[in-house]
Amino acid sequence: MKQYIQSLLLQGVDGLKSAGAIPADFVPKIMVEASKDKTHGDYASNIAMLLRKPMGLAPRDAAEKLVAALPKSDRIARIEIAGPGFINFYVNAGYLGSRIESMLSDGGRFGVAKTASPVTVVCDYSSPNVAKEMAVHHIRSTVIGDACARMLEFLGNKVVRANHIGDWGTQFGMLIAYLEKMENESGADLDLSDFEAFYRAAKKEYDEDPAFAEKARGYVVRLQGGDDYCRRMWKKLVDMTMAQNQRIYDRMNVSLKPSDVMGESMYNPMLPEVVADLQKKGLAVKSEGADVVFLKDWEGKDGKPMAVIIRKSDGGYLYTTTDIACAKYRVEHFGAKRVLYFVDSRQHQHLLQAWEIARMAGYIPDDVVFEHESFGMMLGKDGRPFKTRSGGTVKLAALLDEAESRAAELLESRASDLSDDEKQKVIHEVAVGAVKYADLSKNRTTDYVFDWDNMLSFDGNTAPYLQYAYTRIRSIFRNAGEAAPGKVILSEEIEKELAQKLTLFSDAVVSAADKAMPNILCSYLYELSGMFMSFYEKCPVNKDGVPDDVRASRLSLCAAVAGVLKLGLSLLGINVLERM
Ligand code: ARG
Repeated sequence: MKQYIQSLLLQGVDGLKSAGAIPADFVPKIMVEASKDKTHGDYASNIAMLLRKPMGLAPRDAAEKLVAALPKSDRIARIEIAGPGFINFYVNAGYLGSRIESMLSDGGRFGVAKTASPVTVVCDYSSPNVAKEMAVHHIRSTVIGDACARMLEFLGNKVVRANHIGDWGTQFGMLIAYLEKMENESGADLDLSDFEAFYRAAKKEYDEDPAFAEKARGYVVRLQGGDDYCRRMWKKLVDMTMAQNQRIYDRMNVSLKPSDVMGESMYNPMLPEVVADLQKKGLAVKSEGADVVFLKDWEGKDGKPMAVIIRKSDGGYLYTTTDIACAKYRVEHFGAKRVLYFVDSRQHQHLLQAWEIARMAGYIPDDVVFEHESFGMMLGKDGRPFKTRSGGTVKLAALLDEAESRAAELLESRASDLSDDEKQKVIHEVAVGAVKYADLSKNRTTDYVFDWDNMLSFDGNTAPYLQYAYTRIRSIFRNAGEAAPGKVILSEEIEKELAQKLTLFSDAVVSAADKAMPNILCSYLYELSGMFMSFYEKCPVNKDGVPDDVRASRLSLCAAVAGVLKLGLSLLGINVLERM
């Protein structure tokens, strides 16, 4: 609707241009906003203020001329000019009703059209490290990145999910040596479920036993040389870590699959070539034995251009080198037009440097967008980085266990006739939904406070609240008996408002996907649910005395809200329930 009104205004402006009332080279920024106060219409534009100069008229007079030049539209009931020159649009309720009807019959898209210009988008997210527990910043990356991947895909883009795991580096010598030691001691294949402890023990051995350290260093060299044994041991570590992570993805309804793993090791063979190419292009130069690229737009400590090392004097490559090769690969191999990195804010400079070098080398063409979808830290209620009570890293599996036991408590208080199996399912979906939604609903750029009581509540902007709103609508349908949704007739003000809000679903999805900000969609769904609750208070559906046509219309509104909630939540990676 917004876009539609924008296009009407644009046609009006063009009309005035051909009539000579506006200079032909004037390009106005046409803004249309949904009005908060419905007595000022459904939408308003301030365009007339911007026309004062080019038209040489007071905004009210400019507004009058523009309104007269607008094409007729049956979607608009009335247009008014208000205050200093705002143009207010009143939407045609009959038209709105037919919009709801078409939302209900477009094959489950609920008004969200596929983009006219689909592109390949790479989403780099989750990206945990091998032989380490997924840390809190990986949780955020996983949850936010997955929601964005789903939205972009739903809009018709080809989405490549890239799980850029940390599976390469000198630490693997030590890890292989320690894995070998443990296998020798335990005889059988060991269970490596506590990565944190494994990593710590390996490091301790490395620091305290010179013979072990010597062996570990030897293994690094052999691994890099492609030695069979070391490759196998390395693969074991990668597989064990990713099997555990995959269980977490599945449990959390995260759409990542094993085939999405494209870790650092994948780019390793490309690094010598990349460095050679950067040398050939005169971008990489020798400095104290190392290969460095100078970034002229970046100031180093001494005020001179910043030097970024891409190969150390001992021949070792760096995290940056890998990300340069990775950027090149994403453009060349996938033909990506947009590459989104869901990585915490501490890596901002690292990413910008890698991309800058890749652009200088021509690996990233001008029309390809690389974006850092940065996010803040996850904090405990005390405002400090989120840790366990004893100060350790929070294990994701334990976090989900706790979410489930808290969800069970929350649901315990409600009378229910669900079977035990159904109850378990409800507990699981509420727990996972609550944890994910708590993260998704906040603006990702700020730090976020992890608070059990807030996220597992039926009040406020939470997953349980939205899941509950959905089950309420489903129960309306169970009670509706023979009655079915029918023609939408909007007579009550709250019905118009609800219908109006429903038509904005598409805008919310598009803008959340464009900005990689799932919180935009969360806010929309929350507002929609609130509006639905007010509608349902004022407009009974199944009560005696409600005329059949009114009832059919209200059932359509209910069906549209339920459909939008279910689809909207599924784009966020959250499931709804029939009953809870
Ligand atoms: N493995 C990294 C970490 O744990 C995140 C990788 C992000 N992606 C990338 N292309 N650098 O911090």
